Amino acid sequence: MDELFSAAVRRSTEGRHRDAERATFLSELVRGELPLAGYAGMVAQHHHIYAVLEEAAAALRTDPVAGVFVHDGLTRLPALEADLVALLGPGWRDRAPASAATLRYTDRLRAVCFDWPGGFVAHHYTRYLGDLSGGQYLAAAVRKVYGTTATSFYDFAGVGSPARFKTRYREALDAAPWSAEERGRIVDEVLLAYDLNIAVLEDLGREYSTGKAA
Ligand code: HEM
Repeated sequence: MDELFSAAVRRSTEGRHRDAERATFLSELVRGELPLAGYAGMVAQHHHIYAVLEEAAAALRTDPVAGVFVHDGLTRLPALEADLVALLGPGWRDRAPASAATLRYTDRLRAVCFDWPGGFVAHHYTRYLGDLSGGQYLAAAVRKVYGTTATSFYDFAGVGSPARFKTRYREALDAAPWSAEERGRIVDEVLLAYDLNIAVLEDLGREYSTGKAA
């Protein structure tokens, strides 16, 4: 039987997922080895990234292919702003500059997400399915080790059960009318999305890492 597209994406990118999951910055974060400013720095980078991703989602919500993936319960920007107010205070915008890697990421989002539905879905999948998976574990660790509740970014009450949502999302990937060639381009864009995310984590590591993680 032919492999489902959702399974092919996961299989083709699992090596890069492993690299992302093992980023030193994330290891140190879940062990509570970073200053709280390190967590705030990550939330700030997410704000820059989701501002563009969610601008694209708004632009594509009526697109016959990409619009299927847009869901109001996924919208993260208001939660990110609330978390940044809690972490950095009302003047957070001046204390949350984008890193060089984040600027490369947002440049790529602007280049592909607005006029290539498959490119938008590649980036949308990489972030939101990650937030609904490992993100849930990260949030629990952050609440525990830093004693902060500024983790509303990871609260996806608006989509219902994360497991069921992910199943429906994979079904939508499998049902989308993409040719084999287009599917290949989308997998390549997911790989690039992982690279861009890893670079953001490396920038954060350079800024905040204490070097204690193995
Ligand atoms: C501490 C770090 C991380 C952990 C522990 C983790 C863990 C996991 C786990 C257990 C799953 C499988 C969930 C399921 O099948 O329902 C998953 C899926 C996923 N993660 Fe991560 N993850 C981490 C970091 C990341 C990062 C940094 C990204 C990208 C920005 C990411 C993107 C994804 C994606 C796109 C999926 C969906 C894969 C698929 O089923 O197609 N993850 N993660």
